[in-house]
Amino acid sequence: MLTTNNIKTVKSTVPLLEAGGTAITDYFYSRMFANNPELKDIFNMSNQHTGRQKVALFEAIIAYAKNIDNLSVLKHAVERIAQKHTSFHIKPEHYDIVGHHLIETLRELLREQFTAEVEEAWGNAYGVLANIFINREEELYREGENSIGGWRGQRAFSLVEKKVESKLVTSFVFEPVDQQPVSDYQAGQYIYP
Ligand code: HEM
Repeated sequence: MLTTNNIKTVKSTVPLLEAGGTAITDYFYSRMFANNPELKDIFNMSNQHTGRQKVALFEAIIAYAKNIDNLSVLKHAVERIAQKHTSFHIKPEHYDIVGHHLIETLRELLREQFTAEVEEAWGNAYGVLANIFINREEELYREGENSIGGWRGQRAFSLVEKKVESKLVTSFVFEPVDQQPVSDYQAGQYIYP
């Protein structure tokens, strides 16, 4: 639960975060991956982890801080991020790790500007945002699990066909090892404009 004072304090730190820019982002990721190397697997599995995507988390947090008194503005962004997270099987316990490193990054970089007030405000604010994601992601996991041919977590598939379509395009056909139905999909469902 955020107090009026928490909201005011979070907003007052936006210029500090923006001034820190990518130095904060780099510090945050190095700190997190050094202390929790198991998270590298989650991020690396994507094989599409560009610098831009690394910055995305921090930009989203700044957008959150700016709109913390009008969260409806972030509705579409929250939905897009939640969809992305569920495609990587992000779990509630991951939020504690990210939150911990976020707060410690702010403590280490903002130094004397990281007052007890800032710590409380950001701790509460992160908790609120993390809960929004955790709840929406649980809904999406349940929807997936309860749909015909759906499942939660990982499922073994084997490659049954590899077809060269053109010089640039190859199709890979997979079948579930358990031979059970596979839920339907929409073409391009993970592509966002
Ligand atoms: C409040 C906390 C968080 C925020 C604001 C946030 C924000 C974001 C954003 C903006 C993206 C990019 C979405 C897109 O491409 O459209 C993203 C992707 C991602 N996030 Fe988060 N995230 C949070 C927590 C977490 C946690 C706890 C984990 C797991 C440790 C995580 C792992 C990932 C991964 C693996 C991706 C995909 C990266 C890729 O495409 O390579 N995030 N997140």
